[in-house]
Amino acid sequence: MATLKTDLCDLLGIEYPILQAGMGGVAFGPLAAAVSKAGGLGTIAAISPTPQRVEEEIKLVRSITDKPLCVDIGFPPRAPQNPEPVAADEVPDPIRELEEEVRAQGVDVHPVDDKAMGIEDAKEKMAICERYGVEVIACALGTPEWAVEHAHKWGAKTISMVGRASHAKRAIANGTDIVVVQGTEGGGHTGDIGLITLLQEVLDFATIPVVAAGGLVTGAQIAGVLTQGAQGAWIGTRFINTEESSVGRNYKESIVEADHDTTVRELIFDGLYVRQLQNRFTEVWKGRMDQLLGYPRQRVAISPVRFAAAAADLKDQQALPAGQGSGLIRDISPAADVLERLVEETVAALEAAKKRVEYSA
Ligand SMILES: Cc1cc2nc3c(=O)[nH]c(=O)nc-3n(C[C@H](O)[C@H](O)[C@H](O)COP(=O)(O)O)c2cc1C
Repeated sequence: MATLKTDLCDLLGIEYPILQAGMGGVAFGPLAAAVSKAGGLGTIAAISPTPQRVEEEIKLVRSITDKPLCVDIGFPPRAPQNPEPVAADEVPDPIRELEEEVRAQGVDVHPVDDKAMGIEDAKEKMAICERYGVEVIACALGTPEWAVEHAHKWGAKTISMVGRASHAKRAIANGTDIVVVQGTEGGGHTGDIGLITLLQEVLDFATIPVVAAGGLVTGAQIAGVLTQGAQGAWIGTRFINTEESSVGRNYKESIVEADHDTTVRELIFDGLYVRQLQNRFTEVWKGRMDQLLGYPRQRVAISPVRFAAAAADLKDQQALPAGQGSGLIRDISPAADVLERLVEETVAALEAAKKRVEYSA
């Protein structure tokens, strides 16, 4: 296989500067292990699962490979540990309708014990990562100084997810090692600034490696961000469509079928902006956005139906977070093959640019 290396590879102890994104409900042990084993950085998404589940997934990865592992933990500054339930008469009509549609398909919708929103939960997960000597901690929804200090104490590096230059400045001030700038193109929680601009804004002041994210699904795109100055690529949606990702077949096929304008960025998932594919989960809100509850109440109210529809892999009613690159993905393949293809394509694109662009220094 081709060689593709930046300084980030030495910093993280990986072969290729391709990092698989933390993706809730998608990226567990099997995917993280496959990517790390193949020479990238595999990540376990640890925001929603219980601490016990996180520990099991780490153990699974450790049983498959001893290569570096990343665990993605959420540090939301505004979220209460045990949010108040939303009273039945306050649940928005679109959520009620979704629940009816899901029940009509024989799927039970029941209350969920969602503790994944508070700092106590994050602290418990950090302690587990320390026990297993997890090499990299990805900090989502904020990078508190204490989290960086804790990770450094056991020798781990931290990666901070940001969607704005000001957030990158804060994360750097708090001592983080790497910053991932996620452009609006990305799947999941995302800001409103395009990657090509945001990357440049952050590169202009960053004193640490900057990694690009958002809409990257081909090697030519990775070559583009490496040329611009990124040290690596943090890739989400492309890795949803792998054999090892933990979502159902219907989710993956929805990405294969997605067109170039299929995603929307809305507040319906949890009250924060999330990019996802359009289906009944999004359409049911048309003309009724005034009923949104805001974060975190929207998350509390919609979680029962969201988790039920995802567990049953309902094509129309489940939330399908995915990036704008979905329209470029046409297969479901083993993660190692996807990684290899991305590396080969990146090298080919860098070579092609050298031939295509005439220049002299
Ligand atoms: C299904 C899905 C779930 C996600 N969940 C998380 C998460 O739990 N934590 C996080 O830091 N980022 C999460 N993200 C954002 C990714 O880390 C990453 O920034 C994004 O996927 C990059 O854009 P791309 O999907 O276009 O490659 C999620 C993205 C997707 C698509």
